[in-house]
Amino acid sequence: MSAKKPVVIDLKFERREVDAALASAFPGRTVLHASDPDLDLSEARYAVIWKPEPNLFERAPKLEVLFSGGAGVDHILSMPNLPDIPIVRFVDESLTTRMSEWVVLQCLSHLRQAPAYLKQQREHHWRELSQPEAKDLTVGVMGLGVLGQDSVKKLKVMGFDVIGWSRSRKTIEGVETFDSGELDAFLARTDILVGLLPLTPDTRGIFDASLFAKLRQGGALGRPVFINAGRGGSQVDADLAAALGKGILGGASLDVFEQEPLPTDSPYWAMENVIVTPHAASASDVRALFRNAEAQMERHEAGQPLQHVVDRRTGY
Ligand SMILES: NC(=O)c1ccc[n+]([C@@H]2O[C@H](COP(=O)([O-])OP(=O)(O)OC[C@H]3O[C@@H](n4cnc5c(N)ncnc54)[C@H](OP(=O)(O)O)[C@@H]3O)[C@@H](O)[C@H]2O)c1
Repeated sequence: MSAKKPVVIDLKFERREVDAALASAFPGRTVLHASDPDLDLSEARYAVIWKPEPNLFERAPKLEVLFSGGAGVDHILSMPNLPDIPIVRFVDESLTTRMSEWVVLQCLSHLRQAPAYLKQQREHHWRELSQPEAKDLTVGVMGLGVLGQDSVKKLKVMGFDVIGWSRSRKTIEGVETFDSGELDAFLARTDILVGLLPLTPDTRGIFDASLFAKLRQGGALGRPVFINAGRGGSQVDADLAAALGKGILGGASLDVFEQEPLPTDSPYWAMENVIVTPHAASASDVRALFRNAEAQMERHEAGQPLQHVVDRRTGY
């Protein structure tokens, strides 16, 4: 059996976490750090990357496979001089579970009017609000991939009526599904819209004023709510802030933004009906990331096909 091929790490994650995970990762394999500018990376065959240095491919010209540090690959596909080699997405139960926790939490927070009760608490104001049930609300999930399908399942457990939209129609028990040509019909049914889409040329700016205007008005919460944990480039922040300001949307939970970190003067910070989290809905568990990458490297070296390879035509 041939020797294990070297791997270069270029992850803009918390360095301590990466180092701790590396202590027991990639046994028998040379691990190179791209963060050392003088290190010779020319023999590296794999790269595990998140927002890598632009000159990585010049320094490591013999790469055979790229591993994304997260589920999304927009940060890789937009790189200059990207070599024509397979890109593997990070798919792992830990990532999926974390995202579903965040999505369910946000849907329940708006259902149970958490922002309004927090405001009342700050004002020492005791007032019970009228309360719909989960079954009275339709949650529409845009993106029925690994993350969307798990979220849908868990939202069903909480009792929400759930519908889903994706490029190709999916069959999910108990969930009405729509394909890309049926967006308007999907939106007209949706009280809480959940975005779990990758950022691609087709999804850039998809969450805009015209889309928000098509969501169902007058549902059990009165006005529709927008929740996004896909990518900020899919939402038009000026349109979203305006829709919230004008009351076209009744609230939002936002983990991703056109500009990250969210600028300190963004109107979202001060909106009482908006919940902001700092792109933290589902962080990659670095140990799981390295375990997955090692397993795939072993498959590759054994002549087996890689899994979760990105389709460059669709961009995800
Ligand atoms: N905020 C965070 O912390 C965080 C963490 C992890 C991931 N994410 C984001 O979540 C995204 C989704 O992850 P995933 O693992 O679920 O991805 P995935 O398995 O690749 O699924 C993507 C889904 O989006 C649909 N889609 C893509 N382009 C579309 C289009 N133009 N029109 C309609 N549907 C479209 C796909 O449709 P088909 O099923 O027809 O292909 C698929 O259902 C990632 O790309 C990443 O950007 C965010």
